[in-house]
Amino acid sequence: MANKDILVINSNGPLRGEVKIDGAKNSALPILAACVLGTEEIILDGVPELKDVEIMIEVLKHLGSKVEYIDENSLRIDSSNINTCETPYELMDKMRASFVVMGPLLARFSKAYTKAPGGCNIGARPIDLHLKGFNALGATSIVDYDQISIEAKDGLKGNEIYLDFPSVGATQNIIMAATLAEGETVIENAAKEPEIVDLASFLSKMGAKIKGAGTSTITIEGVEKLTGTRHTIIPDRIEAATYMLAAAMTGGEVKIVNAIGSHIRPVIAKLIEIGAEVEEVEEDDVIYVKADHRLKSTNIQTLPYPGFPTDVQAQFMALLTVSEGESRIQETVFENRFMHVEELSKMGAVIATSGNRATIAGVESLHGADVRATDLRAGAALVMAGLVAKGETRVSDIYHIDRGYSHLVEKLTELGADIKRVTIEA
Ligand code: UD1
Repeated sequence: MANKDILVINSNGPLRGEVKIDGAKNSALPILAACVLGTEEIILDGVPELKDVEIMIEVLKHLGSKVEYIDENSLRIDSSNINTCETPYELMDKMRASFVVMGPLLARFSKAYTKAPGGCNIGARPIDLHLKGFNALGATSIVDYDQISIEAKDGLKGNEIYLDFPSVGATQNIIMAATLAEGETVIENAAKEPEIVDLASFLSKMGAKIKGAGTSTITIEGVEKLTGTRHTIIPDRIEAATYMLAAAMTGGEVKIVNAIGSHIRPVIAKLIEIGAEVEEVEEDDVIYVKADHRLKSTNIQTLPYPGFPTDVQAQFMALLTVSEGESRIQETVFENRFMHVEELSKMGAVIATSGNRATIAGVESLHGADVRATDLRAGAALVMAGLVAKGETRVSDIYHIDRGYSHLVEKLTELGADIKRVTIEA
């Protein structure tokens, strides 16, 4: 009989106190993949303890890298003896972000292979921009039903690449592939996320020549080889935003430590617009959030950075379910990212959707229910809803939450929440 964990939450008043944000999952994953490019020892600090990070470490180990923890959040990685260029199906299937290992493999060994988790999955979350970039650098990509083979028989050569959409993963893959290519690569309409800047600064410490990261034009001048370095992962802006919203939703007062306000401008702006108090102490990477009355409604449209992050859409929707008045959310980055609507509705939220638009009619209160974390951020949204709902909320499928929030139960408990992880027999 299999065991599975659920979260059991009862409302327990406003969140109060201090919470420390961990290193960014979405920075750690591509930076771990980038370690494949280096032939010398690398040390990474601020690595968050997350399922997704474990999977990326498994990918590196499978390829032949030596990876060891030197303390709870620091890793030593040595990729001098990589012995295969094939990432196995299981690891790619567990986490699509594993695909960012393809660029580094291609750069260093002129070949990269994997099995993809079935044709329709690729259709739902495509990799066409990644492949377009690799091909522009002189590689040939062959995608059979589930086998992806990318080879650059004559090595990679710099080129100009225009991305039809500023995809985060494609920008990262192309930057990494270009670091060891011959000549100059220019990526136009590149993603501008802070995680791109973090990756570029890590690669630069390894000896890469990259200009313009954080703008829509990134230029990479290929170098002969990349060396070892030591780097600290930036704080997780999505985790910070989640705790800020949870603090505001419960009418609490929380000090968020290790949080960079400039990485989450739209979230802060929207929180202030709906009536929360937000104060930043930039030099200390600290943000204070306080709300002592019912918050108001607003309209949100998700966009690539520096727009409102799609990864905070579900959590902001949870907050708006109990705000005063009618709010609207338009999701423009992902096609199918309203799966939390049905679950929030089970808790008494009043939400109508039409395509990529949702209208939320704020209610006085939510009630506890049995709900399912349909994805990572949806899971966080349901936990937030559980913090204010009357009665008990039981969130299942929390492996999604484990992918992206380290020590969630401990951190929320420290802030005064009544939340427990319970193992049930399935
Ligand atoms: C990254 C983040 C994820 C975040 C997303 C958008 C990581 C590990 N994950 O995902 O948390 O939600 O950015 O901020 O960093 N697309 C294509 N073709 C491609 C690639 C993407 O059409 O080749 C589309 C996707 O289907 C999606 C949109 O572009 O609709 C955004 O995807 P992308 O920016 O690539 O997100 P990820 O890198 O997968």
